[in-house]
Amino acid sequence: MQYDKLVPPYKTKSVERIRLLPREERIRRLDGAGLNPFLLNSEDVFIDLLTDSGTSAMSDDQWAGIMRGDESYAGSASFLKLATAVKEIMGFDYILPTHQGRGAEHVLDKLLIKEGQIVPGNLHFDTTKAHIENRGGMAVDCTVQEAYDIKNPYPFKGNLDVLRLEDLIHKDPDRVAYILITVTCNTGGGHPVSMENIKAVAGIARRYNLLLFFDAARYAENAYFIKTREEGYKDKSIRSIVMEMMSYVDGCLMSGKKDALVNIGGFLAFKERDLYQRLSPICVLMEGFPTYGGMSGRAMEAMAVGLYEGVEEEYLQYRTGQVEYLAREIERLGIPIMKPSGGHAVYIDAASFLPHIPPNELPGQALVIETYIEGGVRGVEIGTLLAGRDPRSGENLHPRLELFRLAIPRRVYSREHLDYVVECIRHVYQRRNKIRGLKFAYEAPILRHFQSTFRWA
Ligand code: F0G
Repeated sequence: MQYDKLVPPYKTKSVERIRLLPREERIRRLDGAGLNPFLLNSEDVFIDLLTDSGTSAMSDDQWAGIMRGDESYAGSASFLKLATAVKEIMGFDYILPTHQGRGAEHVLDKLLIKEGQIVPGNLHFDTTKAHIENRGGMAVDCTVQEAYDIKNPYPFKGNLDVLRLEDLIHKDPDRVAYILITVTCNTGGGHPVSMENIKAVAGIARRYNLLLFFDAARYAENAYFIKTREEGYKDKSIRSIVMEMMSYVDGCLMSGKKDALVNIGGFLAFKERDLYQRLSPICVLMEGFPTYGGMSGRAMEAMAVGLYEGVEEEYLQYRTGQVEYLAREIERLGIPIMKPSGGHAVYIDAASFLPHIPPNELPGQALVIETYIEGGVRGVEIGTLLAGRDPRSGENLHPRLELFRLAIPRRVYSREHLDYVVECIRHVYQRRNKIRGLKFAYEAPILRHFQSTFRWA
């Protein structure tokens, strides 16, 4: 027999109790949270698909690493292990640990972005965009058009439109702070970027002498899709694909909370010493001394182990297989979802699920709320609520897609849990015509999806 990708390549050593509250209690708690599931307590939630970030189950080896952590202020042995893992897996010689991905964004942008500059890329993640804007810069989306057609099964919807990118850069190369490729492209649907596209973008960066970085949060899932979807890679190992990807960029911003299989931590990594030297004083100021930055020794130890586990092929096969399974089962109900399935989440098309709710009444958020009420399942909106307002006009920005994301934590839930989620979505779909839109009760000034509260429209 061969390895079946629907069988988890691990078994359970420790469990965590979860409970489904009665329906009336769920409604009461949601009211108490201002209809914003971000403001619920985790004990209110039965199956938590809010995010795949920091929610992974660590392995026995990682827990053993927690005990081994060296908490020395300078020259920690755990830092050396992390630096070795980054070198062996990604090929970068220099690393600065940060408390999580956005710590890396903060440090990098402080050095590289000047007022009025732009950072072109595929769809930037919300904190990435907010950090760029915080420095007076602008994130410019150059994703291929296919990404905006929800039904298009194009295998690399994370790709950048290289003609548009070059055109933009050509107009004023000095205005470009750096180029950023997010692998996989979370905001667009967890879609991968092909090696061919990475290579083409690197060519443009070289021609204009611009720095090119990965936002590498889900780099291993991206490598798995290159292996399974791109011609010429099916016989290559994940490790060699990752090395090739990294060979085209100057460095990466990393949130370890995804593909490094840890609950907290991140880093910046570079090929060149010069960039490292210019960024380390900023790291000292914002995060911490360069051999721990924003992390404890034990967290670096667990991340070093997690990096190796995150690029194991059987793990990635099972992981992406789970996402594919959930997507397929939801689609079988006749519910419109984003195609093809991505690396870490299923994205339901809220605009066609609830066509009677206009974008200003937040159809994605309405779906988030109803799914919680129905079965205690927590997902997240990726649409108008997340997009925020145009700073000039004050109007809601309307992204081209109104999505409801169900993100799957790594190594946490079984197929039975996913079947329960499908059943819950089926019930919501059956009563979709009665679902109402939302208005803001309180609108938070920045990153409003986290802390705003709502009332029914
Ligand atoms: N980049 C990407 C592509 C991300 O998805 C995230 C976080 C970050 C950067 C920021 O990293 O959270 O460690 O500071 N994404 C989470 C999510 C929050 O739910 O998708 P962080």
